[in-house]
Amino acid sequence: MRDIRNILVLTGAGISAESGVATFRGPGGLWEGHRVEDVCTPQALHRDPALVHRFYDARRAQLAGVEPNAAHRALARLDAQWPGALLIVTQNVDDLHERGGAKRLLHMHGELRSALCADCGARRPWEGALPPGSECPACEAEALRPDIVFFGEMPYRMDTIERALAGADLFVSIGTSGAVYPAAGFVQTARYHGAETLELNLEPSEGSVWFAESRMGPAGMLVPEWVEQLLS
Ligand code: APR
Repeated sequence: MRDIRNILVLTGAGISAESGVATFRGPGGLWEGHRVEDVCTPQALHRDPALVHRFYDARRAQLAGVEPNAAHRALARLDAQWPGALLIVTQNVDDLHERGGAKRLLHMHGELRSALCADCGARRPWEGALPPGSECPACEAEALRPDIVFFGEMPYRMDTIERALAGADLFVSIGTSGAVYPAAGFVQTARYHGAETLELNLEPSEGSVWFAESRMGPAGMLVPEWVEQLLS
């Protein structure tokens, strides 16, 4: 590997799988028994807000029963010890990266432990159930919804991500199927700017051909090995 200073790590549902959080595209293509379109689109929220809120309430409640695994902890170690620039961009809405200790972290698809006002756009930390029609403390509209980026909505902090991609010497993708854009296209952007590219996944992702190197296996094993290799 050439001289690596700036690293961008992209993570997906696969990194939380060994903690017991279901991935999106599991057997049958269902997410916890639901079609993604029924719980993860603005149309679904409009059609059946009670269902969508209940679904994310259940996901939020589930967080209390899961713990970060060796892969989250290894990335936190990298974050603490890496002297160059590092940004961990996660597509996950769970809080396992931060509970594992990661600091240089960005949730591009929102967060379960946050509520978003559909009226004024304010975001605030949220614990427990979030019934439809909950009042926004900022603007008093009864418009709080789960702070989740639905299909068809713009992911958070794309400007920061684009800058980090342009400056990255190494792009690493962990536990993501490469099925959902724009995240699925990050590897091509990173390559365009001259970065090394590495994929750590249970199986080849849809974008596997774009990576210079792919290592297949569980994140709980591959990520600590890779971090050890990088830091030593
Ligand atoms: N270790 C490594 N990879 C794993 C593991 C594991 N233990 N278990 C599963 N994987 C891999 C799967 O093989 C798959 O390629 O993780 C990937 C998970 O893919 P998805 O379920 O599609 O999750 P993700 O890529 O994060 O989904 C992207 O889609 O539904 C939307 O917004 C949602 O953020 C999500 C986005």
